[in-house]
Amino acid sequence: MAEPVILVDIDGRVATITINRPDKLNALNADVRREFVTALHRLNGDDDVRVVVVTGAGEKAFVAGADIKEFAGRSGYEQFLVTKSFGIFEAPERSPKPVVAAVNGFALGGGCELAMACDMRIASDKAKLGQPEINLGILPGGGGTQRLPRLVGLGAAYKLLYTGEIIGAAEALRIGLVDEVVPHEQLMTRVRELAQAIAEKSPAALQFIKDAVKASVRMPLDEGIRLETTLFGLAFSTADKEEGVHAFLEKRKAEFKGE
Ligand code: COA
Repeated sequence: MAEPVILVDIDGRVATITINRPDKLNALNADVRREFVTALHRLNGDDDVRVVVVTGAGEKAFVAGADIKEFAGRSGYEQFLVTKSFGIFEAPERSPKPVVAAVNGFALGGGCELAMACDMRIASDKAKLGQPEINLGILPGGGGTQRLPRLVGLGAAYKLLYTGEIIGAAEALRIGLVDEVVPHEQLMTRVRELAQAIAEKSPAALQFIKDAVKASVRMPLDEGIRLETTLFGLAFSTADKEEGVHAFLEKRKAEFKGE
């Protein structure tokens, strides 16, 4: 039987989705796109899972991009349908749970775009990131032209997009493309530690934060503030808020139940 292209491991409250095509540097073919979205959708509905980690199998790559083999001979309309139908680059943002990318190697093209679609990026010091689509005579099609400038600013985005340059983890950290860099062998330990810490928070409050932060890059300031005010009020309707406040007053650790 063929190896599954997506592996899901659940350890307590943290689920890890591993893209599993290491011999092709985890390139995104149709199967990966479909199975990734299905796996994340399933985890979204699992109340016991509070944080999702996304990573790539093997020592070399997070994801080395869209599967270039599938590009040969593909028509414009076919490509339009592929991009629209799977929604892999929207899935992490749509997830109600925090989604953390553990960038363990090459994150190129669609790989960089998938990492950017996650809520934050923790990178190995061996990670290499970039948007080399320009070298194929195309442009990013998974949100790269939109999310990259929002993360790193216009100039740094143009530089990566125009040149196709592949940068190391330290430079990615400097421009804000990743949020933390750790020694390669410590990557998953650090990501799990971070995910575990987040998983102890109120899932409702985490979801409200994700909705509000997402809105910050989509809405004018006044509308964003209004949304935050509404969500802040909504947070006061949760049992988790009572638990958090009472735990503080009673000088004990809060046990959030997601209620
Ligand atoms: N699509 C399809 N296959 C890919 C791929 C991609 N995006 N990236 C790597 N692979 C495959 C290679 O074809 C090779 O397969 P093979 O063993 O059957 O020939 C295998 O993965 C290993 O890659 P290889 O190129 O031999 O590794 P390397 O260490 O010499 O180079 C890269 C690594 C990442 C620099 C190189 O693979 C590369 O440039 N990949 C394409 C990156 C890209 O342009 N991504 C954006 C796509 S829009």
